[in-house]
Amino acid sequence: MSKLRVEVPEALQPLLKPGRYKGAYGGRGGAKSHFFAEQMVIRSFSQTTRAVCIREVQNSLKESVRQLIIDKIEKFGLLEFFQVLDAEIRGKNGSLIIFKGMQAYSADSIKSLEGYDIAWVEEAQSLSHVSLRLLRPTIRKEGSELWFSWNPRHKRDACDELLRGAQPPRGSIVVPVGWQDNPWFPKVLRDEMEQDYARDPEMADHIWGGNYEVVTEGAYYAKLLFEAEKSGRITSVPYDPSEPVYTAWDLGLDDSTAIWFAQIFGSEIRIIDYFETRNVALIEIAKQIKELPYVYAEHYMPHDIETREISTATTRKQQCENVGLKPIIAGSKIPVADGINAVRTMLPKCVIDKIKCEKGIEALQAYRTERNEEKDIFGAKPLHDWSSHGADAFRELAVNLFDVKQAKRVPDNAVVEYDVFAHGQFQETSGIEDYNPW
Ligand SMILES: Nc1ncnc2c1ncn2[C@@H]1O[C@H](COP(=O)(O)OP(=O)(O)O)[C@@H](O)[C@H]1O
Ligand SMILES: [Mg+2]
Repeated sequence: MSKLRVEVPEALQPLLKPGRYKGAYGGRGGAKSHFFAEQMVIRSFSQTTRAVCIREVQNSLKESVRQLIIDKIEKFGLLEFFQVLDAEIRGKNGSLIIFKGMQAYSADSIKSLEGYDIAWVEEAQSLSHVSLRLLRPTIRKEGSELWFSWNPRHKRDACDELLRGAQPPRGSIVVPVGWQDNPWFPKVLRDEMEQDYARDPEMADHIWGGNYEVVTEGAYYAKLLFEAEKSGRITSVPYDPSEPVYTAWDLGLDDSTAIWFAQIFGSEIRIIDYFETRNVALIEIAKQIKELPYVYAEHYMPHDIETREISTATTRKQQCENVGLKPIIAGSKIPVADGINAVRTMLPKCVIDKIKCEKGIEALQAYRTERNEEKDIFGAKPLHDWSSHGADAFRELAVNLFDVKQAKRVPDNAVVEYDVFAHGQFQETSGIEDYNPW
């Protein structure tokens, strides 16, 4: 029998060794999809293999890598060996390749993949944390492998956290790969790339350069933060004891807490610190915050902190005040859209500490509308994910600091400037017409 001859670009060669997790990430045109498709065919040909090709959302087989795999089978002259059916490909040695969207699986039905040897997640930047949590323990057979190919979008995306985080799992082989590494990079793609760089270098740097997206589509504050960065307002912002500190909190239902620390100096809002934690009791957090070397003015918390908790028979507000953190102000219940507008008007007045607020800034950058991956459209509501806690706390800050500023308002005969803000798509969800806190 003749041998299969396969050329593999140098950047991808580390992935030829066995590994529990294999990842190739980078911009478009790096030969990632072609590489994994070839590896899938070779592996299924040379040993009996059950493999699943996965995407987060797959509405039809057309969206899958099915055709690419068929092309590779043809290229290797293996059409006799493989039987190509509608939804699966079978090998004469008992190999099986199927194509699935994660939306097709529940916690229960995903068990059908337990005997699989390989799961290849294509466009893995879209893979949700929930999907990844389902998938990892399911692919559990001895020697099984999880393959990921993706174009990085954000460092808090599930596959980036897993494979490019501080501690990738044992047995992972992860390589960056770009169009420069692709010896077959075709002219059509090169032309397209050049046009993209000419039109929108930032976006091109993400699509082709493989860097994280600066401005995520559907993001509420990313542009404003980008401007803040450009104009030097994300910098070192030390605490100035001549003015008190205001804090604003989000107390998440899943035990996440986020807190912003701000000071007001004339029209400038200085964001001096940010705190984020999970699974720590509110009392403990309140103690910690009280101990920080800041002189506080007020602490703003969500409107429901005055509800009594069944377990402790106290309200969250009382719990904080009991350890000496006061005064706690329960925020008013205003529509989310208005809070977002308040943030958008406040952000241009903010200077933010780059280091102490790093995680908070990340959350604000990533805070975005729900995206319907299936329909490929953005919704009107914010997406609830890791970024919502920091973003919700910042909303609390913006809404409440407006009241503080109102109280300190300049006398009537002075010139008062108001920002004009367009409500745009949020108008319909807003209960208050033309609400403009600043
Ligand atoms: N093994 C290969 N053999 C022939 N051409 C390839 C191969 N790998 C990549 N190419 C060419 O490079 C292009 C980009 O590869 P692709 O795998 O789609 O990149 P990525 O998935 O990284 O965006 C393909 O459309 C194809 O023209
Ligand atoms: Mg690809």
